[in-house]
Amino acid sequence: MAERNAASSLKVVSRKSFLWLFTMTSTLFLLSWFFVLRSTSTNRPDFIDSDFLPNPKLPTDLDNSTLEKDNLNDEPSIGNRAILVNTEETEATRKTGSETETLAQNQTPATNDDESKCSRKNDAVVPLKVFMYDLPPEFHFGLLDWKPLGNTVWPDITTQIPHYPGGLNLQHSIEFWLTTDLLASELPEPRSAGAAIRVRNVSEADIIFVPFFSSLCYNRHSKTNKHEKKSMDSVLQEKLVQFLTSREEWKRSGGVDHLILAHHPNSMLKVRTKLWPSTLILSDFGRYPSNIANVEKDVIAPYKHVVKSYVNDSSNFDSRPILLYFQGAIHRKDGGHARLALYNMLKDEKDVHFSSGSVQKGGIRQATEGMQSSKFCLNIAGDTPSSNRLFDAIVSHCVPVIISDEIELPYEDVLDYSEFCVFARTRDALKRNYLITFIRSIGREEWTRMWEKLKEVEAMFEFQYPSKEGDAVQMIWQAVARRVPAMKLKLHRSRRYVRSLSKKERSLPTKPAPVNYWLERRNVIVRKSAA
Ligand SMILES: *[C@@H]1O[C@H](CO)[C@@H](O)[C@H](O)[C@H]1NC(C)=O
Ligand SMILES: *[C@@H]1O[C@H](CO)[C@@H](O)[C@H](O)[C@H]1NC(C)=O
Ligand SMILES: *[C@@H]1O[C@H](CO)[C@@H](O)[C@H](O)[C@H]1NC(C)=O
Repeated sequence: MAERNAASSLKVVSRKSFLWLFTMTSTLFLLSWFFVLRSTSTNRPDFIDSDFLPNPKLPTDLDNSTLEKDNLNDEPSIGNRAILVNTEETEATRKTGSETETLAQNQTPATNDDESKCSRKNDAVVPLKVFMYDLPPEFHFGLLDWKPLGNTVWPDITTQIPHYPGGLNLQHSIEFWLTTDLLASELPEPRSAGAAIRVRNVSEADIIFVPFFSSLCYNRHSKTNKHEKKSMDSVLQEKLVQFLTSREEWKRSGGVDHLILAHHPNSMLKVRTKLWPSTLILSDFGRYPSNIANVEKDVIAPYKHVVKSYVNDSSNFDSRPILLYFQGAIHRKDGGHARLALYNMLKDEKDVHFSSGSVQKGGIRQATEGMQSSKFCLNIAGDTPSSNRLFDAIVSHCVPVIISDEIELPYEDVLDYSEFCVFARTRDALKRNYLITFIRSIGREEWTRMWEKLKEVEAMFEFQYPSKEGDAVQMIWQAVARRVPAMKLKLHRSRRYVRSLSKKERSLPTKPAPVNYWLERRNVIVRKSAA
């Protein structure tokens, strides 16, 4: 009887898996068509890698079966396989994966242990190799009032690291952390598990890093002084473009393999249309047309939080008295109309704290206390789709409620934000009582699950020196590493028929081209060589 049951359930399973296989294949086939069609418009082709692919696991999060799987397939788990791999290969990978999992489960703990150690060794995350331009100090540490001694370009970080200004400057300090991390990778005893290392030979590099502290430069020098025609920020941006476009490295790739920092939404404002082929590190795409910045090419980095992290958080659903917390300006310039509407709707609700004081004026301490005493923290689109408030909420373990339709989230290809954030569309949130009913409907159990997850992921949003495994610095480098295969694909494709082109045709465009430019370029070349 039991046997028959098992047999019939096996049949069901195999039928199911056959059906599943069939559905997956057809879906992938349809998707690939969809992708081809989509790529002819200038829309962001973001849906493929963020929504439909299985999430690659985080290196810190690898369980033994994943390690095994990667080992068997003998290929790195990073990379934009959506484009590179065809349907059958994907299926094959999946099957091998699930078989391996079963195998791993059947093994005795001892062998399992040995093998996992072994595969961990083979599978050690390969650091991203980064070539960094020795830009003059005025582009980086000089902006921190560091004075170079003699001909040096970089500070000696073993003796003293220049201080980055505090306050709200810090929220965009990504440039500082990435650069110091690269410098640290060259120390005689580099820290283990670095996600990126600096290489001096550009032909060995995966990517070329442009160490311009553009956000700090914007914050400090975007005003034009009385006796100047241009602000220092504009001058430096133009100088940077001159520097880059004169370099062999840039000419060879048109900038495709360059990594440029522009975390402050207004940084690099003057020259972003000239640097469009490069991968940009941004906070969101709010002030960028999609042919200059998009999810496919660029990397979204978190803001550095300004409130204190909640260490040893022993709070729970009942001990946090405030249901919903928001602190920030209620009137914003563009796109912030929802704030005022929500304020009017929520201000008289019980347990809702809606304060119009800015973090700066009201004090960081007040915001820290407020968020640590709240179950949910509101994040509403302001001038731009993103703000540091989300990251303040995360480190306060206050479940973020995100009302910002255009927001892009850091490392979303490896992190499922729905596990610890609540999302509401703006048009829904503006319906009478929608939001408050929605939030009140989330009970103790669900909230606690999200709170636990917040404590798990908060380290991914922590910037520090020296960087630690799985922190924001390393997560950003890994996100950059996942862009590299697509970058190389673009470059290599564009070179296929380059010998048959005239010199003029060979030169790379100087104006922003559509997202699908590289594909188009190839098609033009193919057409030409067929004629
Ligand atoms: C993976 O291996 C470690 C020991 O290396 C063991 O403690 C852990 O339980 C294993 N995890 C799974 C999911 O098998
Ligand atoms: C740089 O690396 C390439 C490829 O590995 C090698 O051929 C070349 O000799 C290296 N150049 C220098 C100056 O070491
Ligand atoms: C957190 O808890 C640990 C261990 O109980 C303790 O050593 C540490 O001082 C606590 N930190 C804070 C900020 O309370």
